[in-house]
Order: sequence, then C-alpha cells, then structure tokens
Amino acid sequence: MLGAVELRCGLLLGMMTMVGLNAQMVKAATGEGPGAAAIVVPAGAGAGGGDSWWRHAVLYEIYPRSFQDSNGDGIGDINGITSRLDYLKDLGIDAIWITPMYPSPGVDYGYDISDYTAIDPEYGTMADFDHMVAEAKARGIRVIMDYVINHTSDQNAWFKESRSSRDNPKRDWYVWRDGKIGEDGKLGPPNNWQSWFGHSAWTWDETTKQYYYHYFYVQQPDLNWKNPEVRKAMYGVLEFWMKHGVAGFRIDAVSRLFEDPEMRDDPYMPGYNAYGDRNIQHKYTDDLPEVHDVLREVRKVVDAFPGDPVLVTEADEPNIGELTKMYGVDGKNDEVQLPMDFQIADVNELSAVKFRKLFDEVEANTAKGQPEYFFSNHDQRRQWDRYGDGVHNDQIAKLMAALLLTTRGTPQMYYGEEIGMRTTDPARIEDVHDPIGKLGWPKEKGRDGERTPMQWDASVHAGFTTGKPWLPVPPSAATYNVQVESQNPDSIYSTYKRLLALRKSEPALRDGAYEAVNESDEHVFAYLRKSGDETLLVALNMSAAARTIAVKSAGREADVLYRSPLGKMGLKAETVSLGKIELEPFGFVVARVK
Ligand code: GLC
Repeated sequence: MLGAVELRCGLLLGMMTMVGLNAQMVKAATGEGPGAAAIVVPAGAGAGGGDSWWRHAVLYEIYPRSFQDSNGDGIGDINGITSRLDYLKDLGIDAIWITPMYPSPGVDYGYDISDYTAIDPEYGTMADFDHMVAEAKARGIRVIMDYVINHTSDQNAWFKESRSSRDNPKRDWYVWRDGKIGEDGKLGPPNNWQSWFGHSAWTWDETTKQYYYHYFYVQQPDLNWKNPEVRKAMYGVLEFWMKHGVAGFRIDAVSRLFEDPEMRDDPYMPGYNAYGDRNIQHKYTDDLPEVHDVLREVRKVVDAFPGDPVLVTEADEPNIGELTKMYGVDGKNDEVQLPMDFQIADVNELSAVKFRKLFDEVEANTAKGQPEYFFSNHDQRRQWDRYGDGVHNDQIAKLMAALLLTTRGTPQMYYGEEIGMRTTDPARIEDVHDPIGKLGWPKEKGRDGERTPMQWDASVHAGFTTGKPWLPVPPSAATYNVQVESQNPDSIYSTYKRLLALRKSEPALRDGAYEAVNESDEHVFAYLRKSGDETLLVALNMSAAARTIAVKSAGREADVLYRSPLGKMGLKAETVSLGKIELEPFGFVVARVK
C-alpha cells in the first residue's frame, strides 16, 4: 500500500501534467521544500513593487485574537501571526488584512480604539509589529491594517477631553447635541436614530448635560468628520502606519461617517429587531455625499507613499450604484480601489441566477473599478453554514472556493475558511463575549461563533495555544484542521490550495476578461476567462443533482485543469468535449479550451 506522502506525490504528478506546473511549483503547492517561493508571482508584485499589485492579489483576513497564540495566554498575537507566515505563503496568500490590534478597552474587541498609533500589549509590541512586517515582506506578503475611521473608544484621550467641558478645544471632535423634550414632557435624545448594536444612538453625558452620538456601542463615540482638526489627526494615523511599512488599509464602517445636519428622524420600517427596537431605515446617517470627500482625501494621503498602497472599504452598500461610487463619484476612480462587495457575499443561497446577475452587474460598473469578493468575515456567520445545505456542506465549501478564486476580481478569504471552519456559537448566554450577543440573546447570539480559534491540528487546543483559549475550540477541530486536511487531496484545504496555485499559474484566471456563458442555465453558473490566446472555462454546478452542460465556444474540447469532487478520475489528465461537460452535485470544473 502506498503511504500518504507517496500517494500524494503520485496524485500531484498527475496534476503537474494537467496544469502544466513544474516540479518546483508542485513542491510549493504541497508546501514541501524551498520551492515554496517558486510559485509564479506576477511581475512586480513583490512587496514594495507597485503595479496595481492588488488587482491580482489574494487577500486573507486575520482576526489576530484567534489566529495563533505565541505566549500561552490564550489570545492570539503578532508573534503568532509571524510564526504562521510560511503557512500563508505556502497557501498562496499575497496580503493579510489584520483586524485592529491597537490599544483598546476591548468592548468591541479592538474596534474601540484608545490610541491609534500604538500596539495593544495583548498583541505584542511595536518591535514585534515591525518584525512581522519585515518577515511578511521577505515572503512577498503585504500587510493591510484596519482603519477605524468612524468612531474611537470613549477611553481615547480625545474623547476624554471632549467630554470634559463644553468649551474644551476638542469638544467639536465628536457629535454633541442638546436633548429634546418628548411627548411625555421628559428630556430625551435629539432624535430617533438608532445604534446598529441596539437602542438609541445617543447617550446622555451628565458632566456637560448633552448627548453624544454613537452609531455603534455606547463606548464608541462617533468622530465629527466635519472638523478639520479631526481630519488632520486621522490622516496622521495613516501616515504613521504607512511609515511602518503597511501596504494599505481596510476602512471600517465608512458609510457611517456623516449625519444629516437637519437631524431628521429616520423612517420606521415594519417589525422589531433582535434587541426589541422598532426597525428603522438608517436613511439620515448612512452614505451621505460627504463620505466621498473624505475618501478622496484619504486616497491622496496614502498615494503620497510608494508601492501603490491599497484602500479596501467595508462598504455594505445596498446596490451597485452606491458600490460604484466607492471607487469614485462620476466614474473617477479617485477613492477606494477595492470596495468589498456585500451584495455578492450576502446572496446566502446557491443560486446561479442571482450570482450571475450580480457578477455581471459589478463587472459592468461604470467606474471600471476592480471587484472585491469575499464570503466570510468576522461579522458574518461562516460560509460553510450559510451556503451549506446540511448534507453537502464540504462539497459546497469547495464550490464556493472556486467561485471566489476563479471570477474576475480580488478575492478575500477569512482565516479558517480554507479548512471549512464552521460557526460555533456559545451554548449559554454566560459564555458570550460579544456584547451584542448578550443584548440580543437568544435571537442574536453575537459574533463569537465566527471568531473561534484557528484549527491547526487535532491536538487539545488545535495548535492555537498552549494555554486556555479565549474562545473554546470547536469540536469540529478534530477532523477539520490544517494538518489532517493537508493529507487528503480532496479536502477543502487541498481544493483551496490548488485553486490558489492555478490562479498564480494561469494569467487568464488571475487577470483575464470575464464572459458569462449559458446565461439561461438556472443551475450551473458558467463563464470564460480570457487572456491573450488562453481561454479557460469555469462551470459551477449550484444544485444537488448531477448536471451535464454544453458550452458554445470557439474551441470544441477542453483540458480539465481541476475537477471537484476529484471522483474516479482522481487527478489524472482529462479532456472533455465542450458539448458534454458532466458535473457532479455541487461539483465544478476548471478547464482550458483547446
Ligand atoms: C465594523 C466591524 C465590526 C465592528 C463595527 C464597529 O462593522 O467590522 O466588527 O463591530 O465596525 O466598529
């Protein structure tokens, strides 16, 4: 009998023929040997180069608290991330976005920042950070920081000053208003605006007898972006991190920056939310036009640095019109290069029809901006559960990997998605960390479930920590982990790894034009990717039944570069007729048209 390694080598030899990889690249794809650096990297894409690297990069979001602990305190840290850079390199990642690691009281787990230009001791030191950036750069991996632009912590020195008196020089750095006498004759908040995290967005401050505004938690007062000093200070933050070698920023909650100057009440909608509040439409606090003035300024600040810095926005825009504006108003492309596409992330249903429509839409965006795709992040239930049907979840996870990594755009992964991590909610309210989970229990269990420790191996805490992990390691870690899955050529992990390697070796997948085919097929989402003489076909069966499709294209046959599930062909070379492409339930094919 063949041992696991021999078997894997045999399978890979087959794959080499199929995808035209050389031996060094195969070593890289298996993570064996020094060849890990040999995967074809697009020209000029090494850290520090600048050729719009972000157009063909794969981004990977790290929730630092949960990625890798290096000192046994049960909390992930910077040195932990550094120790896993080889893993990321080997997987095929080009840039990591790390969620906030700045000093913070931790009410919103780092999204309440008390000092923007330092590292929270929980995560390490500035020296650790610089070391991580240098080590990442040595591996061609860029580091993107989180820029929490809309609000600070109430423990930030700026807010402490602001709240100290009405005539403090920093009073106007935040949004302060008088209360209003309500119908009951009592003094209440200035209007009906609600916090995204439940209840009024206004909190009374006894010292100065006014209300302050917070789109999120009470402990996250909103900055007043109309104030030029706020802008100056916050742009200084960008410069500080650029000087520490970062490659750009993911801008948090950017559409919430401005509020209606007339302070009009938001319209109510039917029903109640998980916190018991009436539903409202955030009409007067979201997507005000001034947001774009700030984004243009932010872009100018980072553009003054070399290396083509990137801006990614959390922009959960309601439609393609608003999303397009994030690239720049009037098609100008002078704001954000990569606005995250929440429309696509949140289809939440395996629907070829819906995906085709949305991909076509963003493909045709009038700013000609680069799409940015993702399916999971630290605020969303993991895609394994959201897209899984309860029966074929693993195969669906592989299908989603193919959708993410073969469409035209910049893909963004979330740690653990490559091994099929699932959402593991706390069982009891006493175990909940995320405050919205405490407030909304049991309807809203909070976001702990998608932030559990990375599952590296089958050891007691999954290789995440030697101490007690801050959130429990899910039971699924016994079989869903990097170590176990890397032994199985048809695992979710191996599928991601091969697709990532294909993206690097095939220019058509990386940068090629996108063209939808078979547009009336309700079950199979299929498209071509074209670059020069190369045409690749991708066909994704989004249904639980086997399907056979015929594709009209210039060629008549295609060499299969990758098929999932591997099935009886395994990784052997396969040529298919374009008139008859067979797909297993939730299966997919990536093939080169001859
Ligand atoms: C963003 C973050 C989220 C955070 C919120 C407030 O949506 O992704 O985690 O709670 O902003 O900062």
